[in-house]
Amino acid sequence: MPSETRAGTEPARIYITTPLYYVNAEPHLGSAYTILICDTIARFHRQRGVETFFLTGTDEHGDKIAQAAAAANETPKAYADRISAAFRSTWEACGLTYDRFIRTTDADHVRIVRAILQQVYDAGDIYFSSYGGLYCTGCERFYTEKELVDGKCPDHRTAPEWIEEENYFFRMGKYQERLIAALHARPELVRPERYRNEVLAMLREPLEDLCISRPKARLTWGIELPFDDRFVTYVWFDALINYVTAVRELGAERYAQLWPVANHFIAKDILKPHAVFWPTMLMAAGLPLYQHLNVHGYWTVNGDKMSKSLGNVVRPLDMKERYGMDAFRYVLLRESVFGLDADFREEALVTRINADLANNLGNLVSRTLSMQQRYFAGAVQPRSDPRPEDDALRATFEAAGVEVDEQVCALMLARALEAIWRAADHANKYIVETAPFTLAKDAAALPRVGTILHNLLEALRVTAQLAAPFIPESCERIRDLLNLPADALALPGPAWGEAFAPGHVVQAPVSLFPRIETPA
Ligand code: MSP
Repeated sequence: MPSETRAGTEPARIYITTPLYYVNAEPHLGSAYTILICDTIARFHRQRGVETFFLTGTDEHGDKIAQAAAAANETPKAYADRISAAFRSTWEACGLTYDRFIRTTDADHVRIVRAILQQVYDAGDIYFSSYGGLYCTGCERFYTEKELVDGKCPDHRTAPEWIEEENYFFRMGKYQERLIAALHARPELVRPERYRNEVLAMLREPLEDLCISRPKARLTWGIELPFDDRFVTYVWFDALINYVTAVRELGAERYAQLWPVANHFIAKDILKPHAVFWPTMLMAAGLPLYQHLNVHGYWTVNGDKMSKSLGNVVRPLDMKERYGMDAFRYVLLRESVFGLDADFREEALVTRINADLANNLGNLVSRTLSMQQRYFAGAVQPRSDPRPEDDALRATFEAAGVEVDEQVCALMLARALEAIWRAADHANKYIVETAPFTLAKDAAALPRVGTILHNLLEALRVTAQLAAPFIPESCERIRDLLNLPADALALPGPAWGEAFAPGHVVQAPVSLFPRIETPA
């Protein structure tokens, strides 16, 4: 999804990935946020006829998982099966439209990781050496003294252990200059820019080689190195390769088409593995780099970091049950700016739902359909005698369409939603200005009422079309209420005024987004 993409010139394909979530925690607001962004962007492109491949899955190897399994009294495989299934069933219940759910324990992935390891080893970029270093089990990586804060891991706030052992190393340092050159040659490789700058800052220090093995004496839960069965692969070297596995398995032709348009979506917590380890691994394996690494911020809950111990973990299925999936999607996408941190508060969510969904969009649907029902028994009337206010309404929706394209391609999903809701707001004001409910009292004015309502049905259709990637279920319900065929929300679709033949009957209104009453 190059940012230079504009309406009508979308790439013919896009490959979208979420991180592979660790199976040591169940799905929560944070993991849901990334996959919701990916789902929205995948739907957006699909709707425009772009071939999309959307990947998610689970990261199952390594110390962290082995320890979580031991704590749960299960074998690592049984434990990973259970939590991975929980991710899958949650995402399915959330209606997410990924094409493959990959597990790092899948046989095809294990095979490709081993093939790439062997290739990089044969090329001389993996060597055997002894190394002593400060190791954080939480991060599953060695830290340099400089990276520690008060001698502790900045993420886990625990002191790392000194570990000395023989291991295999990837000559990552060798690729430092090439990576810097790539970041300069392709400024949008890592975006938004603040994260590209962070990566460039990391690369101002000499880039050390990366320890990519763990001796089986310490850890057996991993992919065995193809060239030394006394070791398993470091979990990041294994997991990152999933992005290649999934498309390689589609055959040479689709792989060649999809890999160059790979768009990874992650949060800032895993910037270094994705912006430093991964591109240098790709260079060593002789593979092209991804198209974009898209990095978003972190959610807190009522100002606090979300954690099991604080008991403030927000679960997507609870939100779905309480407010509906679309309302949850809408609020997460509307209340965050891609790249910046955001704070989740249930009161703010309720306010948003009531204002934007129940009042603005919900009212537009119910007022339009109830007037259509009351004055014309649901039958659409011809549009006649256009007035300037009719043209203004059409112009607003056309402009919203252009803006949605631009903003989504620039990852500014909240701005895209703002543009759609500004248009819906205009339609509500158009009802007030043109006052069809007053005109309808005079039989001679009924043709004008028919025209106004026809314009409003168009406004509903285009709103549903533009909002479909964000709140898909509700837009399908609007389409259904309009009695339009299944493909009616695809883009570009008919021109304004051409979607409804006179005599086409639309349904009576239902309440799409009930107002949420909060206890006083
Ligand atoms: N397994 C690695 C990723 C390997 S990718 C080859 C991993 N897993 S994770 O389960 O910890 O997921 C981290 C990701 O979850 C973040 O990058 C982000 O996508 C999402 N989030 C987890 N908590 C989050 C927030 N509080 N806020 C926003 N996103 C968050 O790292």
